[in-house]
Amino acid sequence: EKEPIRVVISGAAGQIGYALIPLVAGGKTFGPNQPIILHLLDIPPAMKCLGGVVMEIEDCAYPLVRGIVATDSYEVAFDKVDWAILVGGFPRKKGMLRKDLLAKNASIYIETGKVLDRCASKDCHVLVVANPANTNANTLSMNTPSIPRGNITALTRLDMNRGAGILAKRLGAKPSDVTNVTIFGNHSKTQFPYIDRADINGTPIRTAINDDSFLDQGFITQVQNRGAEVIAARGFSSAMSAANAIKDHVHDWFHGTKPGQIVSMGVDSTGNPYGIADGLIYSFPVTIKNREWAIVGGFSLTDAQRTLMQTTEKELKEEKDEVSASSNL
Ligand code: NAI
Repeated sequence: EKEPIRVVISGAAGQIGYALIPLVAGGKTFGPNQPIILHLLDIPPAMKCLGGVVMEIEDCAYPLVRGIVATDSYEVAFDKVDWAILVGGFPRKKGMLRKDLLAKNASIYIETGKVLDRCASKDCHVLVVANPANTNANTLSMNTPSIPRGNITALTRLDMNRGAGILAKRLGAKPSDVTNVTIFGNHSKTQFPYIDRADINGTPIRTAINDDSFLDQGFITQVQNRGAEVIAARGFSSAMSAANAIKDHVHDWFHGTKPGQIVSMGVDSTGNPYGIADGLIYSFPVTIKNREWAIVGGFSLTDAQRTLMQTTEKELKEEKDEVSASSNL
């Protein structure tokens, strides 16, 4: 039998945590033969609730779970972890400026990076989910000098899945038949969902849908606004679909992509083939082998599409600058 791997989930007492733990503990992420030791991190006021979550995990009697560490200590939570799924962060409160949200989360992700660098496995693979996800991932990676920068990623898989879902619904098809929708840029309203490499059962999406004005406008806005629409309807931000996307991201990173499959991840932009500035965590199309991602180059882009890529790049640069200004990095 395989050695257990240590997986930390931060923000584990929150709503994504509650939807994610069953997927990780149930073998949907690391596979049905990979035992795990679950490390669950949250802040002191959430410890009582986290205790209840631990009871429920025990009551599920998951065969793959070989241990549970539930704590409010970063040192304990990150000790020797192989995978870190970082969902914990400071939520946006009513009336809060974007700048304040950035600064508050920057301080969390500076501290998280420092402790992770000291305590985690040197090959720890990190997925940042907490918003602003790309910028939090970048802040973290500036504080993890001993962990390869390629090991630090941000979640844009939910946006990719949303795109596939919207296209499939329009075509009356199965979402799983829509492949290779790509998300470029930031996990925010400036993101650019790109469909010119997407297919449905081998037919290009542009041919199958045959409505360029929808694909180049309405579709893009729908994907960009989907998160806000869910909040407006449910009163809470996406949690089931976020957990499902985390499962997909980590699953594909752990197991590799299938032949012909391209997925989107927020990754280090340094040296990318699309002319995006170095030093950002920007979402690109990638393939994955042996737990290493590689950006897929050569997508054809119109001038309008290039502008969309640059708009989201500009936002990421601004976020990075605001974090530096707030924390004197
Ligand atoms: P939530 O508020 O239900 O849970 C967040 C949890 O994090 C809480 O239990 C809280 O106590 C904990 N937390 C706060 N500060 C922490 C710290 N310093 N260390 C450890 N834990 C801490 O929020 P929810 O719905 O679970 O969302 C979590 C994050 O994920 C939010 O930032 C949200 O914006 C983001 N998100 C990102 C998505 C993406 O696609 N990248 C999609 C959906 C949500």
